[in-house]
Amino acid sequence: MFERFINQNAWTLKTEEAETNATTPSHIAIIMDGNGRWAKNKGLPRVAGHREGMKVIHKIAEHAKAHGVGYVTLYAFSTENWKRPKGEVDFLLRLPERFLNVELPKLHENNVQVRIMGTTEELPKHTIQAVRKAVEKTSQNDGLVLNFALNYGGRFEIIEAVRKISAKVEKGELTTDHINDYLFSEHLMSHSLPDPDLLIRTSGEIRLSNFMLWQLAYSEFYFADVLWPDFTKGHLDEAIEVYKSRKRRYGGV
Ligand code: FPP
Repeated sequence: MFERFINQNAWTLKTEEAETNATTPSHIAIIMDGNGRWAKNKGLPRVAGHREGMKVIHKIAEHAKAHGVGYVTLYAFSTENWKRPKGEVDFLLRLPERFLNVELPKLHENNVQVRIMGTTEELPKHTIQAVRKAVEKTSQNDGLVLNFALNYGGRFEIIEAVRKISAKVEKGELTTDHINDYLFSEHLMSHSLPDPDLLIRTSGEIRLSNFMLWQLAYSEFYFADVLWPDFTKGHLDEAIEVYKSRKRRYGGV
């Protein structure tokens, strides 16, 4: 069971002898950082960077799919992003509908399944409506899963999972002996998705910023200096090449 949990792509612990990973990542998680700096460098307001960053998403998702990637998770709005100036928050929370208004028909046509991970109830109604519509419309698609982390925080997600499991223990539906990696994962907001194989963060920052703290335990990390609006298919190729050259050991030798 542990093997299933940790390796849902072609890589398994049985390939320990292999020199490198060599397979395409099944799940890529991306921290799309550097929009504000991109805008500042051009003398533009920060929101112009977010708008430009939004334009990169479809291109990169399609390119990931062309590589054979099955899941792409994007950190679009964190639980900490509420601390930003109201104008920027409002703008960021308009982006999902702006993106989906334009891209949803094409995503659907390309068999992409849109998913959302986060506390959506706290979002403005217009944001919720747009993302729900996209999730429902594409729910039967079985191509690339494009998962947006929206009002998402890794610590909160873990606390919520603990609450849900504790409630089941209190009700007698579970005992503490049932609690293991697999059960815990199934109570996270990413339930039913494999753990990311590769995490990419753009803009040169080297930190996790409360992103998928549980799920990234054995992921490979790739930090790119490029700012997110400048991230190209070539940068993704490079990240995947680096991933393939790594040897994953999962604590083994
Ligand atoms: C971090 O850059 C980026 C964000 C907080 C938002 C990322 C969102 C998008 C790219 C668009 C989302 C689109 C959809 C469809 C949901 P930053 O603002 O922290 O950049 P900085 O570090 O240079 O200031």
